[in-house]
Amino acid sequence: MDTSEFTSKSTNKYIDKASFTWQTPSNIALVKYWGKSNPQIPKNASISFTLNNCHTITTIDFEKKEKSTVVDFDLFFEGKQKDEFKPKISEFFTRIQAYCPFIFEYKMTIHSENSFPHSSGIASSASGLSAIARCLMSLESEINSSLSEEYINKKTSFLARLGSGSASRSIEGPLVVWGNHPDIEGSSDLYGVKFPYDVHPIFNNYQDTILLVDKGEKQVSSTVGHNLMHNHPYAENRFQQANENLSKMSEILQEGTIKDFINLVESEALTLHAMMLTSNPYFILMKPNTLEVINKIWSYRAENNSNICFTLDAGANVHVLYPEDEKDAVNSFINNELAKYCQKNQYICDNAGFGATRI
Ligand code: PMV
Repeated sequence: MDTSEFTSKSTNKYIDKASFTWQTPSNIALVKYWGKSNPQIPKNASISFTLNNCHTITTIDFEKKEKSTVVDFDLFFEGKQKDEFKPKISEFFTRIQAYCPFIFEYKMTIHSENSFPHSSGIASSASGLSAIARCLMSLESEINSSLSEEYINKKTSFLARLGSGSASRSIEGPLVVWGNHPDIEGSSDLYGVKFPYDVHPIFNNYQDTILLVDKGEKQVSSTVGHNLMHNHPYAENRFQQANENLSKMSEILQEGTIKDFINLVESEALTLHAMMLTSNPYFILMKPNTLEVINKIWSYRAENNSNICFTLDAGANVHVLYPEDEKDAVNSFINNELAKYCQKNQYICDNAGFGATRI
C-alpha cells in the first residue's frame, strides 16, 4: 500500500504560534463498514451521508517548543480537562507520526465540544477525530504553502481514518465513499472521496432525524465490534455483499429509485445488527423501543405511501431518513408518534450537509 504521498516533506520553516478552529460533521453510513485489517483498512467499501447538525468544534493552539520524543498535548472537552480521553488521542498521534512529524515540535492544547449531548449514543469519534485531523492539516499548510485543496482534503481524510475508520468520511459531503471499489472512480482504502457522480435531486438535502432511544454508553466499542468479524462465520459473504450493495447504491443515487434506496438502506442496517447477533461473543444492540419505532415507520410508510425509512448505527438509536419534500409530514409523525419511544422524548433533526468548515 503506497502511503508515500502523505509523508510530510522535511522543513525547517516552523511558525512559533498558531491556532485553528474547525467544525467537522458526524456521518451516517448507508452501506456499512464493519470489519477491518491493520492499519485501519476496511474489509469492504462504505458510503455515508455527511450530517449537518451533529458536529464537533475543535480548536488546537500550537506553540513551538524544543523537539521531543513524545507528543505533548492537553485536552479539554466542553471546557474541562479530560485526561481520560487522552489515551485514544495519544494512540492516534502515534499512528500519524510518520505523516505529521511536526507534532513533536509543538505543545498542543486541544479544546473540543460536540453539538449533540455527550452520552447520547451518537458516536463522536468520526467528528472528533476529523476535527483534530483538520487542525493538524491547517498547521501543515501554513508550514508548506504549496499544498492544494484537493491534497489537503485527501490527507485530512487519510489521517482521520487512522483515528477512526468512519472519520475518513467526515471531511466532505454530502455523500462520501471510503474503500477501494471498482464502480467508484478515485475510491481508496486510504481515504474517503466525495461520491463522484451526479446525484438525483430526490436525495438533495436528505433529512435524518435521530431518535435517542438509548443514550447509554456504547455496549460494544468499535474496536471490539470490528474484531468480531475476524473468524465470523458469515464474514466473507458479508464483505462481498457490502461491495455489491455499494454498486447498487451508486446506481440508485444516480437514478433516484427511491423504493430501492429504502430497501437497501434498511437491509444494510439490519445486516449490521445481524453480524452482531451471529458473532461470538454475541450482542443484541437494539432495545424494545428500537423495534417499536421500526414497526411504526413501516406502518406509516404503508399507510401514507411515504418514502420514509430507517437506518441504525452500532446501537439502539434510530436514524429516520426521508426526502426533503416530506419534512413537514414526517416531523409531525415523529413528534406525535415516535418521540414517546425516545429517552426524555429527545430526538435531533439533521440533514445531509457539505462537510467541514473552518471557523
Ligand atoms: O469508525 P468506527 O471504527 O467507529 O466504525 C464505525 C462503524 C459503523 O458506524 C457501525 C458503520 C459505519 O460505516 O459507519
